[in-house]
Amino acid sequence: MSHADEANGSRRDFLYYATAGAGVVATGAAVWPLVNQMNPSADTLALASILVDVSAVEVGTQLTVKWRGKPVFIRRRTPDEIKAARETPLTDLVDTASENRNKPDADASDANRALDESGEWLVMVGVCTHLGCVPLGNAGDFGGWFCPCHGSHYDTAGRIRKGPAPRNLEVPIVAFLDEKTIKLG
Ligand code: FES
Repeated sequence: MSHADEANGSRRDFLYYATAGAGVVATGAAVWPLVNQMNPSADTLALASILVDVSAVEVGTQLTVKWRGKPVFIRRRTPDEIKAARETPLTDLVDTASENRNKPDADASDANRALDESGEWLVMVGVCTHLGCVPLGNAGDFGGWFCPCHGSHYDTAGRIRKGPAPRNLEVPIVAFLDEKTIKLG
């Protein structure tokens, strides 16, 4: 998708958000002494950490940022979305692994995928696990995300529920730095 498409509003749920350059510089400086001893891609990965101000994200909306060349969805879920995700038994899931890089051995219960304890915040790489299209938000049979390329339906926790995608949407390394700032990477 080009920036021209965005400007035309063809994907209104798809917003790129300016990232905090100061955070990127600080992270790079902190890891620099280690970089020389690590493989060549390590500095690139470390420098790619970004800070995102989420203070303007309303409940029921999604902010999409571009990070390491991929879209990342930052969804502030409604109580109904959280409830639907939390009431889904693991036995209903296609992929029972969390697919959460912060909790690699955990199961795919909603509590293991949401960023905060209340479950209001969910952060995921916005790349379909089938062949890599960008799923649409607030769509599909489970009210989460829908990938129109070949018809994969993800629920409100970003877990694959129907269609050809084999895995839940990935939760990247992510954390709250303070109540309005999320750090990716
Ligand atoms: S790429 Fe998403 S369903 Fe095929």
